[in-house]
Amino acid sequence: MYNTGQSFAAERFDSAYEEIKHWVTMMQQHFQPAGVHWCSGSDEEYNNLCQMLVDKGTFIKLNEQKRPNSFACFSDPSDVARVEDRTYICSRRKEDAGPTNNWMDPREMKLILENITRGAMKGRTMYVIPFCMGPVGSPFSRYGVEITDSEYVVINMKMMTRIGTTVLDYLQPGEWVKCIHTVGDPMEAGVPDKKWPCNPKEKYITHFPEERLIISYGSGYGGNALLGKKCFALRIASVMGREEGWLAEHMLILGAEAPDGMKTYVAAAFPSACGKTNFAMMIPPEGMDGWKITTVGDDIAWIHKGKDGKLYAINPEAGYFGVAPGTNAKTNPNAMASVARDCVFTNVAITPDGDVWWEGMTKEVPEGLTDWHGNPFDKSSGKPAAHPNARFTAPAANNPCLDDRWEDPAGVPISGFIFGGRRASVIPLVYQSFNWNFGVYLASTMGSEMTAAAFGEIGKVRRDPFAMLPFIGYHMADYWNHWLQFGRDLPEPPRIFSVNWFQKDKDGNFAWPGFGENLRILKWIVNRVKGLSLGVETPIGWMPRYGDIDWSGIDFSEEQWDNVMDVDRELWKKELLGHQELFGSLYDKLPKEFVYMRELLLSGLWRSPEHRMQAERV
Ligand code: GTP
Ligand code: SPV
Ligand code: MN
Repeated sequence: MYNTGQSFAAERFDSAYEEIKHWVTMMQQHFQPAGVHWCSGSDEEYNNLCQMLVDKGTFIKLNEQKRPNSFACFSDPSDVARVEDRTYICSRRKEDAGPTNNWMDPREMKLILENITRGAMKGRTMYVIPFCMGPVGSPFSRYGVEITDSEYVVINMKMMTRIGTTVLDYLQPGEWVKCIHTVGDPMEAGVPDKKWPCNPKEKYITHFPEERLIISYGSGYGGNALLGKKCFALRIASVMGREEGWLAEHMLILGAEAPDGMKTYVAAAFPSACGKTNFAMMIPPEGMDGWKITTVGDDIAWIHKGKDGKLYAINPEAGYFGVAPGTNAKTNPNAMASVARDCVFTNVAITPDGDVWWEGMTKEVPEGLTDWHGNPFDKSSGKPAAHPNARFTAPAANNPCLDDRWEDPAGVPISGFIFGGRRASVIPLVYQSFNWNFGVYLASTMGSEMTAAAFGEIGKVRRDPFAMLPFIGYHMADYWNHWLQFGRDLPEPPRIFSVNWFQKDKDGNFAWPGFGENLRILKWIVNRVKGLSLGVETPIGWMPRYGDIDWSGIDFSEEQWDNVMDVDRELWKKELLGHQELFGSLYDKLPKEFVYMRELLLSGLWRSPEHRMQAERV
């Protein structure tokens, strides 16, 4: 029954609507829901679903004065983040998924899924959500239909994408992505529903790239369940982009307006929970009042070549599914404004007066909190009140610094790319790559310490190429080749930069103030793109000197600067060994350029032993 590939499409159906109806009937027979609801996408439908979840006890209506039209909910403790070890790319050939992805033969996977999903929606409503990723009608937008048995998913999809009846007209037969989602928790007659239905024992997040098909089983949380996001807009879209000559990236898109009114758009890739939302909404620090940052997107960018040889990016999403902990009026005032109303909060803590709270929102922990398990919070427990991966879902329209072209169907022109991981040492605050190819190398070899949003030992460094390790829908080295190829016929490829906001000093504190202060670094980047700012050549690329950065309004000494800009040759040689290890694991399709670039970097790092005795900055 899952064999619903392109073959059954164009020739048999006059319209996508007929095709979807046929598919929905097949799904209905298989999942055996109590009923089917086609989502109109109306506000009335949204309000009814929220009320339904309040009645069921899933949603807690927040204080209407403090947090109008907003709700909080607590997930099952087994269902709090993406499950990378349960995520599969089921391409027909294993070598197309590559060694960084879990792979299973599509027929084998479908057999497993057919068995566990038969009757999986019993007692529930099956919702049919036609949706659009990108501005409706844009030539760069792509369409999908998600079926789900979760009201939470419908509510979140309404904020995160464009859904409903109006979207249906744009779907073409055979041209939409089939997204199947079930929480995998059928209801038994007479037994009341759980507050957070899911399958605590078994989860499968599966992708069938050749069929443009996604099947997700067992989880109701974030990227596991809102299938337009990571599953479609990154894993499936990366495959589409490779075939069609564009890029689907885990990147924010922002506009940086200089005091003279000139705006420069850049895209930046940081791994999950490493500061994309913050960077996309930055408020200029003291002394840089003439600057303005505007948000196009905070998580995903689809990037196309324009006829003029420039790159144009759209944000396929319409809302933010942002990390709550650490967000406050100082670190990200625009995010705080975005969550002031009309939001859903998942796994945050709740105050006695019906508002939300999370670690880092205020210095003082309020009295009488309810923690994310729904229990009275014990301050002395040593545990957080909000889950570290607690999230808010907010409509982009709430963002006070939303870019006026954020829904431009043609996208915004991208002049630079920024890549940044979370590294306590080794990687300096900022450097610019020598050229496109070295930039692709830099992005391919980036590493990051694990956070609560991803899978692995927290704090341990893992290579996360382009911040896409969990999101690439095909062989990682084919993806690198796609990037190299992409740059070959760009007349003026965007400049590529590396940043690291997360270096620690010897006491374990962040050595760079970060957040709004990152604009000082962005200013240098933007001016480099325009050919206006200076830099010095170093073994790894171009770097600003202390005097090349705008320090108005902040006290940051040259000594502190030298610390965050240090390129330790011995540590970098070790870093290059790490690159070699990564390349070894992807040897079958490794771009040959990378072997030579690694050698070139090493040759720049090497100095004679006498030279090494001298105190030197780089
Ligand atoms: P996903 O939504 O998971 O893809 O992640 P994201 O990259 O949008 O993450 P987000 O911006 O929500 O990252 C949140 C975490 O990064 C919080 O812990 C913040 O405190 C921290 N953070 C963001 N910017 C900075 C910064 O400039 N310096 C430091 N030290 N931490 C930062
Ligand atoms: C991420 O983990 O990168 C996210 C959150 O953006 S989720 O949508 O859950 O994947
Ligand atoms: Mn993300």
